[in-house]
Amino acid sequence: MANETSVDTLTRKEAASELERLAEVMADYDRQYYEEDAPAVSDEEYDALRKRNLAIEARFPDLVRGDSPSLKVGSAPSAKFAKIRHALPMLSLDNAFSDEDVADFAKRVRRFLKLADDAPLAITAEPKIDGLSLSLRYEKGRLVSAATRGDGAVGEDVTANALTLPDIPDELHGEAPEIFEVRGEVYMTHADFAGLNIKLAEEAAALAEAAEAAGKVVTAKAARQFANPRNAAAGSLRQKNPEVTRSRPLRFFAYAWGEASEVPGRTQTEVVEALGHFGFSTNPLMRRFDHIAGLIEHYRSIEAQRATLGYDIDGVVYKVDDLELQKRLGFVSRAPRWAIAHKFSAEQATTVVREIEINVGRTGKLAPLAKLQPVTVGGVVVSNVTLHNEDYIAGKDADGGPIREGKDIRIGDTIVIQRAGDVIPQVVDIVIEKRPADAVPYIFPDHCPACNSKAERLVNPRTGRLDSNRVCTATLTCPAQAREGLKHFVSRNAFDIEGLGETMIETLFDAGLVHQPADIFRLQFEPLREAVEARRRELSELRRTAEGKAVPEKTVKKAETSRAIENILSGIDARREVPLDRFVFALGIPEIGETSAKSLARHFDDVRGFIEGVDAAAKGRAGEDWTELSTLRTVGGNTFARMMEIEPTKLEDESWDPLKDTSLALKANQRVALKERYGEASAIREAIGRASSHAPSEAFLSLSKDGDLGPVATQSLISFFEEKHNREAVLALLEAGVSTINERPKVPAASPVAGKTMVFTGSLEKMTRPDATKRAEALGAKVSGSVSKKTDLVVAGPGAGSKLADAEKHGVKVISEDEWLALIGEG
Ligand code: IVH
Repeated sequence: MANETSVDTLTRKEAASELERLAEVMADYDRQYYEEDAPAVSDEEYDALRKRNLAIEARFPDLVRGDSPSLKVGSAPSAKFAKIRHALPMLSLDNAFSDEDVADFAKRVRRFLKLADDAPLAITAEPKIDGLSLSLRYEKGRLVSAATRGDGAVGEDVTANALTLPDIPDELHGEAPEIFEVRGEVYMTHADFAGLNIKLAEEAAALAEAAEAAGKVVTAKAARQFANPRNAAAGSLRQKNPEVTRSRPLRFFAYAWGEASEVPGRTQTEVVEALGHFGFSTNPLMRRFDHIAGLIEHYRSIEAQRATLGYDIDGVVYKVDDLELQKRLGFVSRAPRWAIAHKFSAEQATTVVREIEINVGRTGKLAPLAKLQPVTVGGVVVSNVTLHNEDYIAGKDADGGPIREGKDIRIGDTIVIQRAGDVIPQVVDIVIEKRPADAVPYIFPDHCPACNSKAERLVNPRTGRLDSNRVCTATLTCPAQAREGLKHFVSRNAFDIEGLGETMIETLFDAGLVHQPADIFRLQFEPLREAVEARRRELSELRRTAEGKAVPEKTVKKAETSRAIENILSGIDARREVPLDRFVFALGIPEIGETSAKSLARHFDDVRGFIEGVDAAAKGRAGEDWTELSTLRTVGGNTFARMMEIEPTKLEDESWDPLKDTSLALKANQRVALKERYGEASAIREAIGRASSHAPSEAFLSLSKDGDLGPVATQSLISFFEEKHNREAVLALLEAGVSTINERPKVPAASPVAGKTMVFTGSLEKMTRPDATKRAEALGAKVSGSVSKKTDLVVAGPGAGSKLADAEKHGVKVISEDEWLALIGEG
């Protein structure tokens, strides 16, 4: 959450766009977590985003979006399963992160129930199991359906799978209500998780061996293993084939209920006891307390037992015990008022830095990695931790100034690491007392460990300061960069060549067969076979020395290798024609990711057209002064556009103070940013003047608009093609017979807005702004964010403000949304 503006200073407009961003980002995280069982961020980071979203919504309640993360529980069910609508929604829990948050929870409950501050209030405390929740519906005592939480309203039908779990009875024991939905958590113990991963690794190895025997070249695909017990439980339960689920060691704790024709008890404690009688496992650490002090004490005790419980928990859940009170308290949006989850902080462990290794990435970045004395953190063995960059290791920036994170980390240091949630471990502290007497500050290499060229820290155009990363200066001759670049070129979202994975690229690169992408398309059978066989011999030699004994050399029949080579060659043939966006993305141009590549591809017919566009932009590239001001945080966009329209006479007028000129409509934070960067009014005036005189050409702006690129990415694209070797490598691909297809829609000839520059402003009612923009662009219009004399048409909806005024000022035609729809024949 680096440099995020405080919620208190957000303007309404900033708040709206921040809420939009959060909705988008968190929907992505949710999808990765729930659908792909592969979390992208730690629970803490996620919770921080959720809190930020809530805080903004609390300040601007009318800005709460329909797709707000605060209204969502989990993620939409996967299409793999039939859906089940929960009779009662499966809700989520609010979080408490401190003892004060817990006290606040109790206060809220008391206030709501109009209880005195000291009136006794029974609350239960039990571990929060880190698994996935499941709702089991029993009718007349028999299990009729089992559903995952899904989005809280609709879950996935996993009935057949649930029936294979030993902890889930097919039939409730004893006298059960007519209808009873039992809810709880499916989880996996640490021991079972470790065993399952070993089993999966062995299966993958056996499969690879069989495939190899069948003549397929096996690229070292990591065996499909699970990242943690939670993902293992989710992945095992959400299987198409229930027999797979049966073979997985899943367990279930019951802790709640949904629809019930009759609730078997008057308190949480009684019902959980009843769940035990019905045949379920319930958590043995559940207790009831009359005061907060007891809850907190139990929380600490559970936290102390956490490492030895044998299964993952991520907090303690408190619930008001009395069901009558629960009913009165009810729910707020996604969570009950009568319960809260008191989360644990991330798990930590102490270990020693044995070595610092530097890896060189595709872009030449020197990435430091600490090799650790292996240590278990939350059930996972950690032996590496990233040290990010030079400044992080040194604990100061290039000028010796303090930095937000990072500390003087030395080889031999004892460090505290944490695995926040499920993701990448990080260093949290150094135990200085344990530093060996002879430990010296780490000297970051100033030469590339792969090619020995100079490695430099460049000025980051976004900040105007030395970047914290050091990069190898030999972009094309550095073998590490070339290798990584080739791996990127063949990767799944780029050329996606079957049979050519990372390992095969390494083999071919090391054999000297492939130096640059075009070489791939010139590969011949015989040299390829020789390289593959040589690598095989090398590997078995290695294996033999490693095991220190004679291992019989595996004989791979000649015919099998031949078949494998044929497979690779046909994989390459299949990709001699690729979509233009894949081609652009595959080049690995810094700052040009998949999204930019897709946008760019929409605007060019083929590779040559694309290069021409870049060349045209290169002629009128932006000056550094322009880039600096246009990328200054909080300035950009419309404010920047207004600055660029200031008359030259004003810029020369020494009495003109840009900070006081109301026509610029500067916001407080923009004034602060300008002052911080440039200082006095006169300096700001000069900066605007310099930027105006270094403004880029139309071609530059149009390239940056086509690719939806900022000035930095546009410059990067230009610099890439200015480098002779890069250009040659791209042309070599075309000469080797690679061509592109481009399925972008043709602009209709009769479009009323073809070639026109348009602006949408105010709120649209019949379509969203992005859809309207897309539609206009498909019709050949250029959609801009600000109104100038060059604008042809403004579509204004209710609430249009300064842009409407600008349109009037410049005499630009303004039409309503309905008129716009009529114009394009959709009215
Ligand atoms: S009670 C209406 N108790 O945590 C609230 N939930 O963040 C019902 N969870 O969706 C939930 N252990 O998957 C409850 N002892 C426990 C729990 C627990 C884990 C999960 C559950 C829920 C999520 C909320």
